[in-house]
Amino acid sequence: MLPCQSKIDLPTRREFLAALFTGMACCRLGQETWAQPMTGLMSPATDGKLSLKLADFPVLASEGGSIGLMYGTDFPVLISRLAEEFVALRGECPHASGTVIPLNGSFFCTNHGSVFDTEGIAFSGPAVGTQLPQYTLTHHEASGLLEVTVPNMAHSITVVALSGADRLALTFQSISGAKHEVRFRAQLTGAESVVSFASTPTGSLNVTELSGDGTSKTVYVSRSGQGGFFLVNAKVTQL
Ligand code: FES
Repeated sequence: MLPCQSKIDLPTRREFLAALFTGMACCRLGQETWAQPMTGLMSPATDGKLSLKLADFPVLASEGGSIGLMYGTDFPVLISRLAEEFVALRGECPHASGTVIPLNGSFFCTNHGSVFDTEGIAFSGPAVGTQLPQYTLTHHEASGLLEVTVPNMAHSITVVALSGADRLALTFQSISGAKHEVRFRAQLTGAESVVSFASTPTGSLNVTELSGDGTSKTVYVSRSGQGGFFLVNAKVTQL
């Protein structure tokens, strides 16, 4: 008999930052100073990348350990450790699109109670005979990073230099329910830092977070200093 959903203690969402979902929407602004004129540079990215440090998730150190990550109102990304490898799954139940979450060493559909093993194969409930969709996952052993490719989640950035102002306008598609922040890299690869921005062309550059609603958003950043790359990230919370 299937467990009744109302009698199960579902995990509560922990509202700390587990990782960052990077839209990989880097904007190359040249290696010169930003005194150069710039208009409409944008990223060709098509897929999103979810990068996480294994050390941040001790539960993934043991075989069968699983986590669920949310970056908005979409379905969670589920990651579990198998004997020799990791697997990343889309937490959307194939039966009727219920949300699937980690629960007691398995994955559990919060809609009709189907249960899936750590490889995403349903072994109980109405979803039996189906399997959760799998994402491409790369384990970078040297750096201890897991990188999951999430199709169609990239949010490219359009960059426009404001005439007469020392600012750039960054326009991007926000993710509904996600919190976004802007980061900067001096080089394509290398250290990033969080950038404060303004929500209006002349507003104070003191905003660090923006709530996404699925619409296009524009934020304004300083272009003083050397050229480089901007990224707009969506914060991820752990279920
Ligand atoms: S939607 Fe998951 S079991 Fe029905």
